[in-house]
Amino acid sequence: AETVNLAVIAGDGIGPEVVAEGLKVLDAVTTAKVARTEYDLGARRWHATGETLPDSVLQELRDHDAILLGAIGDPTVPSGVLERQLLLRIRFELDHYINLRPAKLFPGVSSPLDVARVAPDGIDFVVVREGTEGPYTGNGGALRVGTAQELATEVSVNTRFGVERTVRDAFARAQTRERKQLTLLHKHNVLSYAGHLWRRTVEEVGQEFPDVSTAYAHVDAATIYLATDPGRFDVIVTDNLFGDIVTDLAAAVTGGIGLAASGNINPDRTTPSMFEPVHGSAPDIAGQGKADPTATILSVAMLLEHLGRADEAQRIEQAVAADLAGRGDAVRSTSQVGDAIAAAAAQG
Ligand code: IPM
Ligand code: MN
Repeated sequence: AETVNLAVIAGDGIGPEVVAEGLKVLDAVTTAKVARTEYDLGARRWHATGETLPDSVLQELRDHDAILLGAIGDPTVPSGVLERQLLLRIRFELDHYINLRPAKLFPGVSSPLDVARVAPDGIDFVVVREGTEGPYTGNGGALRVGTAQELATEVSVNTRFGVERTVRDAFARAQTRERKQLTLLHKHNVLSYAGHLWRRTVEEVGQEFPDVSTAYAHVDAATIYLATDPGRFDVIVTDNLFGDIVTDLAAAVTGGIGLAASGNINPDRTTPSMFEPVHGSAPDIAGQGKADPTATILSVAMLLEHLGRADEAQRIEQAVAADLAGRGDAVRSTSQVGDAIAAAAAQG
């Protein structure tokens, strides 16, 4: 059997609990031999050694086929340290320029929206969030901190290269979907320079994809559509920060953050891509077996799909769909949910 070299970063809070279930389902479904290497990264290591992501570990990560990540972040670590030096550093160093976040309302899942009214044909779209630029690059600074004259900047970096490769990837994804529709979210009425670059790039790259229809929405208006007409979206392409914000809203309207999966993808496959639930480390419920592992399990499906194992990915999706359809109000532990999905996926 083929071997998959998998790096596992369970991380903080509920990370280890949900990752255990993701791996359980992976083992249940795949015929590949999964060689796992676990990396102790996150709050514990930072407290113990002061390290976030040693260069040697980053180098080792490169030698894997994919990375599965649980969650990063802990209230005992100053804000931004683990986020920037660990999670974002991996995304940047491994050039994960596509942050792919599907938003699908599975049958039987309750949405805070009146779905029968606002999305009678269902909700099924995917956000292609740019992953290595925007305001996430750390290009900014502060002057006169703590004085009445304090000044802070966070510069959004948008390169033609970075925008174009993201837009092209989004078009290519739209091309494979039934509706073949791409919506750019930005704010070009205020953020004119970057907005113009994104808009023009969508127009130009769109020439290569004559079957794909394009639309544009300002990101603030898009939040209204996400709440009142989410069925309108097929593929959304947007920058790193807008994508961060709208994917939390997209998760909320499709059953909550416990179900939202994501992939930090390098489509050129020059580095391993990294798959993780959209949710964070949820320290308030960590260690209690209360976390929903579904987002991580669906992230494992995305991982398999990325590795060319579409059948296995689909079996996980079907097992998750079946589980979600029958969930009702029963309260199950993290491992009970994992067991049920693993059993169904193994048979599937
Ligand atoms: C996410 C998270 C991260 C982000 C944080 C933890 C750096 O919110 O994956 O959506 O902003 O990308
Ligand atoms: Mn986020």
